[in-house]
Amino acid sequence: MEETVLLVGGGGREHAIARALAGSAAGLYACAENRNPGIARLVDGFETLATTNSTAVRAYAREVGATLAVVGPEAPLEAGVADALDEADIYAFGPQQAEARIETDKAFQRRFMAEHDISGCPAFETFDDPEAACEYIDSNGGDLAVKPAGLTGGKGVKVVGDQVTPAEAKEYIRKSGYERLVLEERLVGEEFTVQAFVANGELRVTPAVQDHKRAYEGDEGPNTGGMGSYTGTGLTLPFLSEEAYLDAVDILQETVDALSGYKGILYGQFMLTGEGVRVVEFNARFGDPEAMNTLPVLGTDLLEVLVAAREDDPLPQLTFEPQATVCKYAVPSGYPTDPEGGTRLDIDEERAGDALLYYASVDEREDGIYTTTSRAFAVVGVGESIAAAEALADGALTAAGESGLRVRHDIGTSQLIQERVDHVASLRGE
Ligand code: AMP
Ligand code: GLY
Repeated sequence: MEETVLLVGGGGREHAIARALAGSAAGLYACAENRNPGIARLVDGFETLATTNSTAVRAYAREVGATLAVVGPEAPLEAGVADALDEADIYAFGPQQAEARIETDKAFQRRFMAEHDISGCPAFETFDDPEAACEYIDSNGGDLAVKPAGLTGGKGVKVVGDQVTPAEAKEYIRKSGYERLVLEERLVGEEFTVQAFVANGELRVTPAVQDHKRAYEGDEGPNTGGMGSYTGTGLTLPFLSEEAYLDAVDILQETVDALSGYKGILYGQFMLTGEGVRVVEFNARFGDPEAMNTLPVLGTDLLEVLVAAREDDPLPQLTFEPQATVCKYAVPSGYPTDPEGGTRLDIDEERAGDALLYYASVDEREDGIYTTTSRAFAVVGVGESIAAAEALADGALTAAGESGLRVRHDIGTSQLIQERVDHVASLRGE
């Protein structure tokens, strides 16, 4: 198509977006803080810049003659990059700053849900004073999730009764310096993600994904941006019934109906509890890693969806290949608490075989590819079953050179999947 697309962001998610656009856009350009070698190879031009600098992003978009832009990460959305591009008549697929608050301000997000009576909202309180939040922990007595209201890269939430004691939660609040907080009912269950394309009041949903937030195997350790994820061969997951999936879709629909002028991806993070589907959070963009599960099996041309969004046309119905996917991330040792960046990677892409390899927060320099302090690269296996996809991904990771990096090999394994299924059965009292 005669479109020139600017992609903003340089992670694994953006590498997946670049791959989905590379075959159909007449021109494809990217800008990011880091030079992602996977993206750089697919595009006609790559600019290293601060993606939260709306003026710089807009100037680059103009320079390359962009007719469309896709904003991958949340930080530029929060900084108003979509607003700046839209003002310059370069349609940004990604919400403007005000609508992105559904992700960037968790206090706003919960109040919005309550105000519009959106299903699945846990009981919550918002605080502008950390000491008041500490008092609430004392007086409440129950298990709570402690959430900084602003963006923390998925690493800010502490759950009393799971990760921390009430005393540790209070210490965390006092030491962290977060001024605005949300305290909410602890949700117990299995988490899953449903992402939807949204424009002109319409939405088109994608298959459910399960991400793994915890740093170590067996779901131990601190929360990360996501260590890996899987999808089944259809819209649901082994532990997720069609009914529960559709409940999540209804919540997304209610949210889209309540938002005005939202465009981009609306990402719902849900908890399947014993009492039904609850909302953990909303994000205003594709998930990372979830985009790497979704885009490789999307049968519809991504660019066609973006153009329809811009043109106010009905969004195309999406098709997906009936294939399962498993994504595993290789991360620097010490990630997320004390990551060791600046290590030169020795990746042999050829040896990834039939798996897809996505570069993430790495930086390509003259003498090689270096890690930063975030997730380095991911592999995705696509197969007839989750087990087949898992075997592909795991084999590829070892072959491609994960040495010196850390991986959760348990993601997508039959044993972990069975544990999820058993967990949901036990929540239902079966
Ligand atoms: P968030 O940044 O809101 O995605 O939260 C990060 C992680 O914290 C989620 O993926 C959950 O694992 C956990 N979490 C957030 N809210 C709750 C809650 N109300 N109950 C239990 N766990 C939660
Ligand atoms: N995978 C979690 C996120 O993208 O926020």
